Amino acid sequence: MEDSNRCPNPSIHEVSQPSRRAVLRGAAASAFLAPLAGLGLAGCATTGGGATGTALGFKSVPISNADTVTVPEGYTAQVIAPWGEPVGLSGDNPAYRSDASNSAAEQEAQFGMHHDGIHFYAQSATSGLLVMNHEYTDDGLLHAGGMAPWTAEKVRKAQAAHGVSICEVALKDGRWDVVRPSPWARRITARTPMAVSGPAAGHVLMQTAADPSGRRVLGTFNNCGSGITPWGTYLTCEENFVNYFKGPDQPDAHQARWGLRKGDPAGYRWHEHDERFDAGRHPNELNRHGWVVEIDPHNPSSTPVKRTALGRAAHEGATVAVTRDGRAVVYMGEDARFEYIYKFVSAGRIQAGGAAANATLLDTGTLYVARFDADGRGRWIALTHGEGPLTAANGFADQGEVLIKSRQASDRLGATKMDRPEWIAVDKQGWVYCTLTNNSNRGGKDQLGVDAANPRANNGMGHILRWKEDGDHDGLGFQWNHFVLAGDPLNERAEARGNVKGDAFACPDGLWVDARGVLWIQTDMSTSAMGKGELAGLAHNAMLAADPATGEIRRFLTGPAGCEITGATGTPDGRTMFINIQHPGESPSERSDPAAPTRFSNWPDKGPHRPRSATVVIRRVDGGVIGA
Ligand code: FEO
Ligand code: CA
Ligand code: CA
Repeated sequence: MEDSNRCPNPSIHEVSQPSRRAVLRGAAASAFLAPLAGLGLAGCATTGGGATGTALGFKSVPISNADTVTVPEGYTAQVIAPWGEPVGLSGDNPAYRSDASNSAAEQEAQFGMHHDGIHFYAQSATSGLLVMNHEYTDDGLLHAGGMAPWTAEKVRKAQAAHGVSICEVALKDGRWDVVRPSPWARRITARTPMAVSGPAAGHVLMQTAADPSGRRVLGTFNNCGSGITPWGTYLTCEENFVNYFKGPDQPDAHQARWGLRKGDPAGYRWHEHDERFDAGRHPNELNRHGWVVEIDPHNPSSTPVKRTALGRAAHEGATVAVTRDGRAVVYMGEDARFEYIYKFVSAGRIQAGGAAANATLLDTGTLYVARFDADGRGRWIALTHGEGPLTAANGFADQGEVLIKSRQASDRLGATKMDRPEWIAVDKQGWVYCTLTNNSNRGGKDQLGVDAANPRANNGMGHILRWKEDGDHDGLGFQWNHFVLAGDPLNERAEARGNVKGDAFACPDGLWVDARGVLWIQTDMSTSAMGKGELAGLAHNAMLAADPATGEIRRFLTGPAGCEITGATGTPDGRTMFINIQHPGESPSERSDPAAPTRFSNWPDKGPHRPRSATVVIRRVDGGVIGA
């Protein structure tokens, strides 16, 4: 049991929003606040709403097969910012056309598809910026007529439906809505020019025919989880980037380690009209993706920056904590079977002055990969060129190559191969939580067996692991345990039952610690597995709230058919929460039949209208703090 009055480390939720003025309690607070003085940063906040503690005050919702969003009694759920609505650029704001006939140019001014990580930057008590990722596209829904015929215009529209949206939202008469036009509105897509910084910038492995400098990349895509920095920027994470590339007939060892396969098995077909996605012709383009990208949402003309010091991975998210002496620590999971958990510790300290004053903070520091030992202890192992096996003789010419080949480096370092690490969150007691969404290959034929941290064979249910660093977030050692093994107690197979103290769930993915300290868990049972076999009793994907103090878990929200729930953020007063519903109505093949777009769902527009990813605003009818 944690002492709720202790507050050894400020979490990102406490230090990210200058408008959330801390209410300090206890002598321990001053110990870490001193180095942050003058930065507009503070720790151990209570919510502005006055609700304290992590007790859950709502009645669980049951599992659901309904094509709708269900929230507890006394709560409301309002849809905003669905795919295709204009983000509010000054100038043209093309209306969404429900037959998917909007052009690529129009899509560049509209919210993208498949909403994912999200953050609300408060600008006043009733307004702020909403920044969100658009992970991927369903080209069966995105274009009238789907992928036939496949054209350059459709590739451009698909690229425009990826990336990040920045919009302004405001609360008026009890409803949040997008403000149009807004000087903050912006779309960042798979074609937006961005800079590369850090040790891999300009590396020979980053140079292409179109960019001999290796420092200017077009676009970000497959943006999954996200993070925020204490200096007000947004971190968007490039996850399954390899799926967008056509592989050569015989991928080399480096390409193969990153999952590049012959041809275009994922079927995005971008290479047919954009040759940089043909890895046979432009092998280094692949190395220019898989990074964490930093965006300053408060400066609409700023150039996004790919931060290579944080390492290359199929990044799920990037969660920032702060050491007592003011250095940034970025926790990152790589969502792929048998891949790794990383953390980056900045060399410098966070400076007062916002994004401009911290423009290079994430370019210098040390990247580590985690090893979880059987005795409940763990080690962070540095990915530093010249140390241990990371030498030129082993194929790492310099630090840039170590970072570009993080997977190969981590293999050499003996790090622990995990069950698909997804989002990471830090609670008020300094525990760091990571969702391990599932790994049906664990313990299979010719596959790795179980280990202490990944204890179940054929892990279709997933688990949440947590650790506490020795001393501070830059600690090289840690203690760890399992917060929960997900599952359904009604399952026959013992390993699929889990040990949930409360409502059953599976495949944890999104994670967020709110201002009170409640841990919100979002599930992503895949559409091919949902409702079947050992997942049959769990129906649709859900969001649950966990009390870190007691381990109690309650189901708070269920989603429409075929969706995953992902991304969570809220207003500083805790009275509004924003979450994303991604890919409602997704078919088991993940690409819809354009002739039957409503076959699995017509959420949220209903009637004959194709399903759309969207943001959902959750509030309490009595105006109280969410979850309390
Ligand atoms: Fe994009 Fe790992 O979910
Ligand atoms: Ca995810
Ligand atoms: Ca997932």
